Amino acid sequence: MLTSEQISPDKIAADYTSAFTETLGCVQAAVLQDGLVLFTCENGRLAVGGLRTGIIRVKLLAGAGPGDPIPMHTTAAVIREETNPGGREAEPKLRDTGLSYMIETAGMMVEVVKQDSSLRFLNESGQILAHNPLLAWKEDKAATALFQAAENTHYYGLGEKTGFLDKRGERYEMWNSDNFSPHVPEIEALYQSIPFLIVIEPGNAYGIFLDNPGRSVFDMRASEQAFTVQTETGGVDYYFIAGPKIKDVVGRYTALTGRIQLPPRWSVGYHQSRYSYMDQEEVLELARTFREKEIPCDVIHLDIHYMDEYRVFTFDPVRFPDPKAMIAELKSLGIRIVPIVDPGVKLDPDYYVYREGAESDFFCMKPDGSPFTGPVWPGQSVFPDFTEAKVREWWGSLHRFFAEMGIEGIWNDMNEPSVFNECKTIDPDALHGNDGHPATHQEIHNLYGMMMSKATAEGMANQLGGRRPFVLSRAGYAGIQRYAAVWTGDNRSYWEHMALAMPMVLNLGLSGIAFAGPDIGGFGHHTTGELLARWTQMGALFPFCRNHSMLDTVRQEPWSFGTEVEDICREYINLRYALMPLIFSVFREAAETGMPVIRPLLLEYPDDSNTVNLCDQFLLGDQVLAAPVYRPDTYHRVVYLPEGNWFDYWTGERREGGAHIMAHAPLDTLPLYVKEGAIIPRTAPAASTEFLCSEELLLDIYTPENGEGSFDLYDDDGTTYAFKDGSCNLHRLTVEGTEESVTLRVHPACLGYDGGWKKWTVTFKHLGFAGCRLDFGTEASGREELEALDQGWHFDSTAGELTVVMEQPSEDVELVVRGL
Ligand code: GLC
Repeated sequence: MLTSEQISPDKIAADYTSAFTETLGCVQAAVLQDGLVLFTCENGRLAVGGLRTGIIRVKLLAGAGPGDPIPMHTTAAVIREETNPGGREAEPKLRDTGLSYMIETAGMMVEVVKQDSSLRFLNESGQILAHNPLLAWKEDKAATALFQAAENTHYYGLGEKTGFLDKRGERYEMWNSDNFSPHVPEIEALYQSIPFLIVIEPGNAYGIFLDNPGRSVFDMRASEQAFTVQTETGGVDYYFIAGPKIKDVVGRYTALTGRIQLPPRWSVGYHQSRYSYMDQEEVLELARTFREKEIPCDVIHLDIHYMDEYRVFTFDPVRFPDPKAMIAELKSLGIRIVPIVDPGVKLDPDYYVYREGAESDFFCMKPDGSPFTGPVWPGQSVFPDFTEAKVREWWGSLHRFFAEMGIEGIWNDMNEPSVFNECKTIDPDALHGNDGHPATHQEIHNLYGMMMSKATAEGMANQLGGRRPFVLSRAGYAGIQRYAAVWTGDNRSYWEHMALAMPMVLNLGLSGIAFAGPDIGGFGHHTTGELLARWTQMGALFPFCRNHSMLDTVRQEPWSFGTEVEDICREYINLRYALMPLIFSVFREAAETGMPVIRPLLLEYPDDSNTVNLCDQFLLGDQVLAAPVYRPDTYHRVVYLPEGNWFDYWTGERREGGAHIMAHAPLDTLPLYVKEGAIIPRTAPAASTEFLCSEELLLDIYTPENGEGSFDLYDDDGTTYAFKDGSCNLHRLTVEGTEESVTLRVHPACLGYDGGWKKWTVTFKHLGFAGCRLDFGTEASGREELEALDQGWHFDSTAGELTVVMEQPSEDVELVVRGL
């Protein structure tokens, strides 16, 4: 416990600001070489170049002399040019304007002022997008880049940080940290470090991605006129990412660092976890209870107690005597196992993983050449050097142990890495091979967890015979989205932490990590029935949906608090499964475009000043708006509906947007709204995504009175990579409403998967017509008659709904509903 002694007068640092006294000085020479402009300045060197349209890389080499080479290799965050079809999109041009050098590259320009080596980024018409007047460093080479900020600047991204959505006035550190203290605004570093800041000024948005996996600081607090990015090692190597819209910035950043891979569908289902389900029988009993209680569940996680004295790649022979049989029984229930795998390998000469790694020198070394050791769950442990390809391959191959048992998903924890020693991680001077660019741990700490997940994802993919693996990771760096989903670590069962999960996961999404979520119900502390009900309502619409809790806390499975809470949990988990066609289509969009699965309203309505810091409600895709209740004993809340009309998902009531409304939300109600013009695909819920085999797709059209909507509906087998060879279905749907008619167009852009829904039931909801006509199959006199038809329609004038049945379209279809 800390006391007031912490703030005794002699402990307060007099000066928070560090003095970066060295600067580049004036430019002495500039040459264009291999697509880069290399500047030799008075006191150092600078490389500036365009990589792709709208992305400029700036690298500072502090103190370098004219002949010193500027190493341009990147970290693993950046998708390398050879793996990026198209590679460099534009050869820059260099122009001497007299007072400055102007670099023209695809879509934009950079001006480097000769007098002081300052940089300005401009668009094609010469408008200034950003100004970096200062690059400076200290004697020890810790460096800073200062950017000017306009008066009304707002900040987003930065991955997994506490606080609100807008990071204005905040300061955060990037240093992957296992911080078990409650996650409060004061905590500057958590498990993930995503050094990517989105800057939004009136009329312009841009991003700064600092590719430095050592410790860095983003400071938006010290000044209102500027923000700074500071590094401890490795100088400054940043990417300016142009907008002008926030969606352009997110799209470009994810083109640079990668997008999520389309996950197996089962991983998008509901996950149940506990530290720990202690033995095989408890796991099976848990699975049976889900089935008895008819609560959907796809995954049960095995926490550390499944292992033999916490040795990774083992099962405890007493508690889990027959994991294969357990997995087989779970499979029949549609449930998969995801075991935890930590990086710490027990230092035990009788243990094969330790022996193999030690024989090949695969563990991180101290400067004296002996392995670095430190205590974690198994006691003294060693840590594989995942920054080396050969170590990743070895680690990946160890996953055969799991794959052979029928396991398809792995949970990577403690991979900051967390060590129970003084510095809380691997010693700063320990050495990493780093794929040919040796570095100390201090220099590349934040890469460790991501490289472990890369090894895991690639190893599992190799073992699974063409099925997609699922990896969950606690730690990460920019690019982690390519390998793993992310959960937000050890939160608590506090209402405040439920509320915090929204801005945190929304900013993770803006930072490329589209597949993320918190421990539903809270990990530490003790949940209550009410908190679990509310949190499950919210979590059911989050990308990653897992209920997890800690040793010695009250049980928090959905049935732990009586039937009312159980019924609510069931209803909302069912909702997730019913909406799986929608959710999975949004996942595909994330994999294709980098847009997050759940979004702050700011992303879709950037010109609406009400969205600047709106983070107690969110959008699923761009059509559904959820506004969770996140306080106890609260049955009403204010909801902001942006421009357009919205429909209450539950009652169908139409609400005009551009306004704050009061939602009534008894405990069983999550305020949920659907945008006019939305096209919402649903299906019959099932106990597991494995059993989501209804032949029928329900397509609800929230008929636009005078407007339009569109949606890309995606489906594939949910497990293999066959979609990459075209074995998937993609229907592009658009709807358009006028006073006289409503038109739905269906365009099958891809039709390679034949296992999907055979029948579509399309319902035009909220039709304003007293009667209507549709030239499509038979007009049925009622729902029953309609059900029996292959192609036809029925208009229910009381409900104002027109329902159409058809076979899944294999060619373009146009339904024109005319009002009478
Ligand atoms: C860490 C993880 C937590 C897990 C526990 C035991 O605290 O964050 O999720 O349950 O370790 O493995």
